Amino acid sequence: MTSTQQSSSQQASIEKLRSTVENVLTRSRARSAALTECVDERDLLAQHSPLMSPLIWDLAHIGNQEELWLVRDVGGREAVRQDIDELYDAFKHSRSSRPSLPLLSPEEARSYVATVREKVWDVLSASPLDGRRLERDGFAFGMVAQHEQQHDETMLATHQLRRGPAVLHAPAAPRAQIRAQGEVIIGGGEFSMGTTLDPWALDNERPAHSRYVSAFAIDIAPVTNAQYVEFIADGGYERPELWSERGWAHRQDEGLRAPQFWDRDADGTWWRRAFGVTAPVRPDQPVVHVCFYEAEAYARWAGKRLPTEAEWEKAARFDPSTRTVRKYPWGESEPTEAHANLGQRHLEPADVGAYPIGASALGVQQLIGDVWEWTSSDFEPYPGFEPFPYAEYSEVFLRGDYKVLRGGSFGTDEVACRGTFRNWDHPIRRQIFSGFRCARDVQGV
Ligand code: AVJ
Ligand code: FE
Repeated sequence: MTSTQQSSSQQASIEKLRSTVENVLTRSRARSAALTECVDERDLLAQHSPLMSPLIWDLAHIGNQEELWLVRDVGGREAVRQDIDELYDAFKHSRSSRPSLPLLSPEEARSYVATVREKVWDVLSASPLDGRRLERDGFAFGMVAQHEQQHDETMLATHQLRRGPAVLHAPAAPRAQIRAQGEVIIGGGEFSMGTTLDPWALDNERPAHSRYVSAFAIDIAPVTNAQYVEFIADGGYERPELWSERGWAHRQDEGLRAPQFWDRDADGTWWRRAFGVTAPVRPDQPVVHVCFYEAEAYARWAGKRLPTEAEWEKAARFDPSTRTVRKYPWGESEPTEAHANLGQRHLEPADVGAYPIGASALGVQQLIGDVWEWTSSDFEPYPGFEPFPYAEYSEVFLRGDYKVLRGGSFGTDEVACRGTFRNWDHPIRRQIFSGFRCARDVQGV
């Protein structure tokens, strides 16, 4: 169809999409800038942890992916800088080796991402946001925005690992409005897992498919610091019977005894360091910076287990009154600050019970935002999975040593978070903003 044949309502919806793309790309760049302008040059090039890239690598990598997909592929334009593709290819150099690469200087990196972005504005105004799959519904733009936000969350984790006084600031996360305790029982039955129609859903979320989930119970809220402290006090880290074999070996090798960034003073008070600020742990906040093995051991101690990924998604999306699924727990509307703790609005999880209107149809709270939630599931493809548009986003990680995390954290932007979104990491990792909630089997529902 040519543009003159398009109805004015189609044209209006394309223009609305164009402005959505513009807004999300602008918001993402403001965040990337804020995360890289608050420290000096030496700090941008430094390695704050062997698990992380130098902050300036992330920035140039963001620009390079944007150049590859939007300037060269969608736009069909000439390369801005072909010579740096290899430097910023995440598969060519390990994170720990990146500080010793001949990286662009902070000044060069900033000018590079700005040049790419200028070209992207041209490409955006020329794209029909339709036609081939990469361009239809602005998918490539949505993918690039999600990519930038994912690296922004990674940079936020780098900031958390960085030593030194605070450079990032945000208001404290909200307190409870309701009591969020106990569990919800969800009867056995099918639900539609994943999505086919959500235009910006990534390849691993696709396609929608029917899943039978046996009856189970799931906690209304994530496990809190107070609950986790009880586990520690009850010898949780000293009792091998609570841990899986691999988990216990890891607990021993690494000398784990509390979540990362926690310390206990002489009085027995637990303190946590977050973004350069040390404060007593807030009892009603979801615990954060635990690895999968710690989550698994806690669940066993509590007489429960971690939810599977399918259970988590059913609890988040299934509406038993219509037997349909929602994009978010509360429905289809985009998250606001009243729904969920997303977008680095706060630099910490909010107390459980802080987001009553964010509850799912089944009455489960805080599934979106606050902390990524470990599930018991390995990262596996859905039936009918097709890698798109590149194998290095998901496919190369499928069936590897990864566990799925769901729901997003306080550091996740809304564009990279929804009821179907799948994150994954090695079960030993805990520098990410990871927590969990528990579930258990129930009979005869
Ligand atoms: C989906 C968060 C596991 O950071 O490794 C960034 C996202 N993919 N660049 C990651 C990603 C390519 C990915 N996670
Ligand atoms: Fe990347």
